[in-house]
Order: sequence, then structure tokens, then C-alpha cells
Amino acid sequence: MSEGEGEISRVTRSKGQAKASYDKMSKWYDILARPERRYGYLGLQKLRAVEGETVLEIGFGTGHGILALAQSVGNSGQVYGIDISEGMINITRARVREAGFSERAVLNCGDAARLPFEADFFAAVFMSFTLELFDTPDIPMVLHECRRVLRSDGRICVVAMSKKGKANVITRLYEWAHAKFPQYVDCRPIFVLKALEAAGFQPLDVTEITMFGLPIEIVVARRGHHG
Ligand SMILES: C[S@@+](CC[C@H](N)C(=O)[O-])C[C@H]1O[C@@H](n2cnc3c(N)ncnc32)[C@H](O)[C@@H]1O
Repeated sequence: MSEGEGEISRVTRSKGQAKASYDKMSKWYDILARPERRYGYLGLQKLRAVEGETVLEIGFGTGHGILALAQSVGNSGQVYGIDISEGMINITRARVREAGFSERAVLNCGDAARLPFEADFFAAVFMSFTLELFDTPDIPMVLHECRRVLRSDGRICVVAMSKKGKANVITRLYEWAHAKFPQYVDCRPIFVLKALEAAGFQPLDVTEITMFGLPIEIVVARRGHHG
């Protein structure tokens, strides 16, 4: 199946179930998600947050991205995070405190489909392995929220499992597992670049790589003007 033909799978799990599952998983998540971490870091390198910027990470999990961003924006910058799971927030809060970055990191508990921030606030937004957790109609809503909170010269970086190109055995297996065990296999491949373009973002850098045979898209895009 080529790009454009395949529909992305729907998400059947509720947000309450997602929150409960991540709360439960939070103690083990660092071990479980260790192999994914380098792709998040690659996205952060491409986003290039700099000293003095105000940056948001959505779905920050155990906080490795928040820490790296706090380092990049320095004393004069500020990092905000939003995550639906209190378990994840507690782990990240401890990590941030230990690194001495508590003053420059603000962690919020909430749903990314309704960002509790004012318009035109952030220089950059980052998301890794999080956009693909949202159900199909929620993806444009989340991206719309990202555009709203970004400044007109702002940029976004999304790292996510990709459905782009010819489906391989691993992608099909993943989608099958997602349909069969939605509580455990919660993400599924999505069209990252297409979703960003449809939401009005202008791509700046597109990287396609694989993680154990699973295609990953890392897309950096600029918000551009509203309308
Ligand atoms: C697969 S984990 C990725 C964590 C981290 N970004 C990483 O790359 O390791 C997804 C994260 O998104 C959070 N999340 C799930 N649904 C969310 C929602 N509706 N709003 C905000 N965060 C959400 C989860 O609690 C979890 O921390």
C-alpha cells in the first residue's frame, strides 16, 4: 500500500485509560522506552532550542527531553511541559530538581488537545512518540493547539512512528497488535509530515529513519502566519 492509500488506525482507548496506563507504567518507563530515547534526542538536535527561548514539550514522559531543553534554553529561557500522567510528572519533577533546573521548568498536568497557554507564547514546541497516541480526529486538534500557542516565527518538531511509504512486516505487525491489544500497544504509525502540512505548518527539515524496522519521521516545521 502506498502513501495516501492507507488509513491510520483509530484509537479506541479513552484518555482516562491512557492516563491510568501511563501512571502505572511511569516507574518502568525509563527502562521500557530506553531504545526510543535516541530518536527523541535526534529531534531535539534538529529543533535547536537556544539560550533565552520559551519552549513547550507535549507528552514529556520521564523528562529526558525537558532536561535537555532546560539545558539548551539556559538561565534566561523557560521550558514548559504538559503531560496527562501524574506519575510521569512526579518522575520528571524529581529529575529536574536533581539537575538543578526547577526554576526554568514548569510542568503541567493536562490534555494536549486543550493547551492551557495563551496564544503566540512559545518559540518552539516539541513532541516525541506522543502525537501517534491521539485518535485520528484529535491529531489536527492537537496540531491546531500547537499553532495557536506558537509565535508566528515559531517552530515545531514532531518525532513519531510513520505510516509513510510501503507498509512492511513490522509496521503491519505493530498495527495488528495496536488493534488487538489497544491497552498495551497504544501508539500506531501516522502520517507526520502530511498531518503537519494539513494543519498549516511549513516543513523545514524532514528525516525518515527506522527503529528496529519501524519507520520514524522526524519533522521540523515553522508555524507561518495564521489563516
Ligand atoms: C509514549 S510516551 C512518550 C514519552 C516521551 N516523549 C518519550 O519520547 O520518551 C507518551 C507520553 O504522552 C503522555 N500523554 C498521553 N496522552 C496525552 C494527552 N492527551 N495529553 C498530554 N500528554 C499525553 C503520556 O502520559 C506519556 O508520558
